[in-house]
Amino acid sequence: MMPGERPPEPRFVLAPMDGMTHAGFRAVCFDYGADGATTEMIQSLAYGRAKKRMSPAFEETLLRLPEERSLAAQLIGRDPGAMAESARRLTALARFDAIEINMGCPARKVVGSGNGSALLKEPDLAERIMAAVREATPLPVRLKIRLGWDSGHIVAPRLVQAAEQLGYESVTIHGRTRAQMYTGAVDTGLLREICASARIPIYANGGVTCAADALDFLRDTGAAGVSIGRAALKQPWIFDDIRRLRRDESIPERLAPERISLLVRLAERTCRCRPERVAICEMRKFCSWWLSGLSGAEDILSRLNGVDTLDGFRMLLGGYLNDLTRASDTRIHPELAAPYTLDTVYRT
Ligand SMILES: Cc1cc2nc3c(=O)[nH]c(=O)nc-3n(C[C@H](O)[C@H](O)[C@H](O)COP(=O)(O)O)c2cc1C
Repeated sequence: MMPGERPPEPRFVLAPMDGMTHAGFRAVCFDYGADGATTEMIQSLAYGRAKKRMSPAFEETLLRLPEERSLAAQLIGRDPGAMAESARRLTALARFDAIEINMGCPARKVVGSGNGSALLKEPDLAERIMAAVREATPLPVRLKIRLGWDSGHIVAPRLVQAAEQLGYESVTIHGRTRAQMYTGAVDTGLLREICASARIPIYANGGVTCAADALDFLRDTGAAGVSIGRAALKQPWIFDDIRRLRRDESIPERLAPERISLLVRLAERTCRCRPERVAICEMRKFCSWWLSGLSGAEDILSRLNGVDTLDGFRMLLGGYLNDLTRASDTRIHPELAAPYTLDTVYRT
């Protein structure tokens, strides 16, 4: 690829979010047309050096559902040897389309042990890790970074160059520094400069709130694609909205039947990946987001507290949908909806 050249079709992918983007949720995003996704981060020290079977919770991180059309496994760590060994193990599973290295996670616990975005302060080590992983696997390798540790230490251009030289497939850049965590302006200008000189696809990430926003971000950065995180948690249909906007079609209202059948589908899929009780308990946050603004949603949310089986979940939501349909009240009432923000749950 020549500098600044873009693949013919931009790609819109789901960003990895630890604790949220498990296989069940990713499959929902693929239903709506996401072009790719990444597993939650896999700790290379635990995985690369493990002698015995990993815990069931860890094994879940490695699951892939048939609906997941394009899936990278994401590794985090600062030991080049453990990262390489983990990449070899992931490759041996013959389950993933690519390996991605996480050098963007800002969580205090993660950077405190020198991992994630802490590596942006040690670009020499970051490059050694990148080289070790590249050596260890025949799969395409990708990098996910932030612009730098803080505004005085911007290293994204250097790491993109290293990725190019090492034959990386792409780099996703969250257009903020670690110091900014998840708020403050995304530096679209710097992303644009990086995209213009890069010889490999760059995915722009950070702060997309809706489909129109994603298309503006794509245009303003000149990126090969956009990686969408928190907005997809609250509206997984964003990938379908983007596709429609790109074709100049109108974006449909997402009415109660769609939202409720989606919740049931997510619950069914999540139950395929983790214990039923845990899966149903985790549905509460998705219910609070996807039902927000429907009449009677508050009541359903409180009744959900007494539900811990898939059958119970289906029954509660099925009854709710019947009530809404009978009352011809299946639309969102903006005055009942919680204010829309990207805030979810941050690990700090
Ligand atoms: C709860 C949560 C968990 C995250 N976990 C990961 C992760 O495991 N790996 C990673 O590379 N980024 C992780 N991120 C960062 C996101 O992938 C993304 O870069 C960030 O949320 C900015 O994009 P957004 O504004 O579209 O959400 C996480 C973000 C959130 C909010």
